[in-house]
Amino acid sequence: MNKNPHVAVVGATGAVGMEMIKTLEKRNFPVGKLTLLASARSVGKKLKFRGQDITVKELAKDSFNGIDIALFSAGGSISKAFAPIAARAGCVVVDNSSAFRMDDAVPLVVPEINAADVKWHKGIIANPNCTTIVALMALYPLHAAFGCKRIFASSYQAVSGAGAKAMEELKRQVGEIVAGKPATREVFPHQIAFNVLPHVDVFLPSGYTKEEMKMENEGRKIMHHPTFRASVTCVRVPVYRAHSVAVSAEFEKPVSVEAALAVLRQAPGLDVIDNPAKCEYPLPLYVTEKYNCAVGRIRKDCAFDNGLCFWVSGDQLLKGAALNAVQIAEELMK
Ligand SMILES: NC(=O)c1ccc[n+]([C@@H]2O[C@H](COP(=O)([O-])OP(=O)(O)OC[C@H]3O[C@@H](n4cnc5c(N)ncnc54)[C@H](OP(=O)(O)O)[C@@H]3O)[C@@H](O)[C@H]2O)c1
Repeated sequence: MNKNPHVAVVGATGAVGMEMIKTLEKRNFPVGKLTLLASARSVGKKLKFRGQDITVKELAKDSFNGIDIALFSAGGSISKAFAPIAARAGCVVVDNSSAFRMDDAVPLVVPEINAADVKWHKGIIANPNCTTIVALMALYPLHAAFGCKRIFASSYQAVSGAGAKAMEELKRQVGEIVAGKPATREVFPHQIAFNVLPHVDVFLPSGYTKEEMKMENEGRKIMHHPTFRASVTCVRVPVYRAHSVAVSAEFEKPVSVEAALAVLRQAPGLDVIDNPAKCEYPLPLYVTEKYNCAVGRIRKDCAFDNGLCFWVSGDQLLKGAALNAVQIAEELMK
């Protein structure tokens, strides 16, 4: 890999794309040149990187000549159409969509868990689902120590997980409701302001949503744990940014709160915030714009023999997307 790679951000004007640009800058990623790509709607728009204005160009088949690393966050159909073209042009793609995550020829990577999988890429590396990353940041170290059999979990997912337009929808609806007007809808199937929606992604014949099944399917691939089971309910909440997940996990080995805390305190990319007597536990508001996820409310699960409950929050635009993608790019540079 070129020491100062030419990097492209595909979907640069989106919620994740903008965070990718900021993260490349904040982490001093050794970008030689940055190319910003989006749809025809954004052509000519200027975005700042290291104090310079960079003009957004339209994504096209010939966009990838001379590019070393392309960070994709423009949706699954764009990734399916353009990531193979980029890979054929000699560029390594880090893809944020779900398009290639379960493809056996594509590594699915959370660097704190399976960084070594980056090595066997064939031009495309997938970034996992954001809710799955946030949950695994706390679950994986516990699995490594005690052997996780299965989890039951509920997510509390921020509107930014559905993109820039969804953030605008929450803001607009709050304004409308406070002004005594009816809430208008464009993105979500129901009013999201002052409400919670037990519906993220599309429903499958089983009654689960696609988002809910990502925890089990992607979790198995990332943790190299083919028998891992996860029953999940995904819920959209009127939070701008940062997802939270309430997890009940059952382990092979006996687990105490003290032993779990000792493991979690050593875990990379994770803070333990667990002092209920002082009302201290992870909150989406306080992990917003933070690189680390946070875990708390750690207690013995009263319904499992070797069980533990915990609550984990993380900024899904960062650890769930942009930061994880840049960390993968950092692995490529090693
Ligand atoms: N939001 C999250 O927390 C999150 C987390 C993990 C993964 N992801 C994934 O990341 C991807 C982007 O999500 P987002 O939340 O950033 O969405 P978003 O805010 O709606 O942004 C979408 C981006 O894709 C670009 N785009 C759309 N159609 C395009 C086209 N035909 N050609 C080129 N560019 C096009 C948009 O450009 P214009 O501005 O020109 O339309 C924009 O830059 C999705 O696959 C999503 O599943 C999102």
